Amino acid sequence: MTTQHVSVTVNGEVHEADVEPRLLLVHFLREDLGLTGTHVGCDTSNCGACTVHVDGASAKSCTMLAVQADGREVKTIEGMATEPTLHPLQQAFWDQHGLQCGFCTPGMIMQSAWLLAENPDPTEAEIRDGISGNLCRCTGYVNIVKAIQQAAGSLAAAESAPNVAAATTEGQAVTAEPAAAG
Ligand code: FES
Ligand code: FES
Repeated sequence: MTTQHVSVTVNGEVHEADVEPRLLLVHFLREDLGLTGTHVGCDTSNCGACTVHVDGASAKSCTMLAVQADGREVKTIEGMATEPTLHPLQQAFWDQHGLQCGFCTPGMIMQSAWLLAENPDPTEAEIRDGISGNLCRCTGYVNIVKAIQQAAGSLAAAESAPNVAAATTEGQAVTAEPAAAG
């Protein structure tokens, strides 16, 4: 069996491995690294369940070979939370009940994260277009869209919070208060 050496940084950790040239990135992540949050729904680039980030861009990991990830940075759903805090998208999917069986959810969140990085304030139409490569059999997408809208708001608030804290009124510092729940 011919193998090729790869060095792939996944969720900030460097992984060295000898892999078959035909090995798909999704199988490398799931079977070699045990990162089973990345799902396989079709293997034919249709469903988006396998979506990860490669060098910051959204990619369907069933359409890439592991050897193509050599020397690159991959982020999976396991790398999204900053323990013990969920990523705003994870929190929003929880809050808005943006999932039922959850099979599509990791890929949906990775795609949404890329979407919001590219367009921090998307319209509903832009959200629906942005996740059009990710299929969900359960939800009808309504709560997924709500979750992405919530996350966009959370991320924007987090982005502006330091600026608010730094603002001054008549020379006096103004401190940002967390928004009331409900
Ligand atoms: Fe990759 Fe469906 S498993 S798109
Ligand atoms: Fe079941 Fe999306 S929640 S496929």
